[in-house]
Amino acid sequence: MKIIGPDYLVFGVDNVNACVQYLTDYGLKPQGLDDTGGYLEALDGTGIVIRHRDDPRLPKAMETASTLRETVYGVADEASLQAIEAELSKDREVIRGEDGVLRVVDDMGFALGFQITCRRALDLPGELSNAPGASVTRDVNALGASDEMPALPRSLSHVVYFVPDHAKAEAFYTRIGFVCTDRFIEVGPFLRPAGTLDHHTLFMIQTPPFMKGIEHFTFHMGGPTEVMLAGTRFVEKGYESFWGPGRHQLGSNWFWYFNSPMGCHVEYDADMDLHDDTWTARVAPAGADNSQYFLFHYQEKWAPGGPPPKH
Ligand SMILES: [Fe+2]
Repeated sequence: MKIIGPDYLVFGVDNVNACVQYLTDYGLKPQGLDDTGGYLEALDGTGIVIRHRDDPRLPKAMETASTLRETVYGVADEASLQAIEAELSKDREVIRGEDGVLRVVDDMGFALGFQITCRRALDLPGELSNAPGASVTRDVNALGASDEMPALPRSLSHVVYFVPDHAKAEAFYTRIGFVCTDRFIEVGPFLRPAGTLDHHTLFMIQTPPFMKGIEHFTFHMGGPTEVMLAGTRFVEKGYESFWGPGRHQLGSNWFWYFNSPMGCHVEYDADMDLHDDTWTARVAPAGADNSQYFLFHYQEKWAPGGPPPKH
């Protein structure tokens, strides 16, 4: 079951225009939106669907305040779709929609879809640095950063759920080929499906049942400089930083999280570790010491000549 990762997430929100504006400012590209919302995509075609919470096209809402209505995974081939259908139809309804998406509900009540992936292959350089002793460096006369750098989201990376029973939640995903890359004790697993080497495409956090839903999602950027540039531009547009920038420990991904009108956090990330089946999962207690190697806070631009700006 070669699941690659989430192709798109579907939200049912109160304020469609605010969410569309937010995601456009985040860097996604609207694709033929109308007054009822629509699809906004990253460079590889993965993206986010925004609809009004009462839109009849949406899957059923959760009993909590979560605005996430569906997580649709991209798979590598038809054989994977058939294998998922065969496994999950043992104990639940599996529906193949007119859009070709295989739909089920997981053991926590999250609506899921599976489709042949919509991801377009990207041919873009990652961030290169100049380091003494390194054989691969940035080209001579090539700039490491500039005001013209686009810093656009490349690909939907991962989604994080609040779940009331992380062990039961994990067991479901194990049935469709996810493995645990690393784990926070009594919190939840970082899960990696069979079609990617990314450290995680799904992380789950144990919470009381009333919190069940989405905690955040993120798109991969081209490198740490793009995370910093995109995040700085986002703050300068008036959006509120929630956590970051910094670098996580499990996964080594650079991160910067923001508040959003979808009621969840939205992250920029970059340079996540890759793992294969030779990797042995680490187990760590959760907490600030294990959540990041370092953490910065945004400050307004400044130059020597007076005191730094106060916050
Ligand atoms: Fe994340």
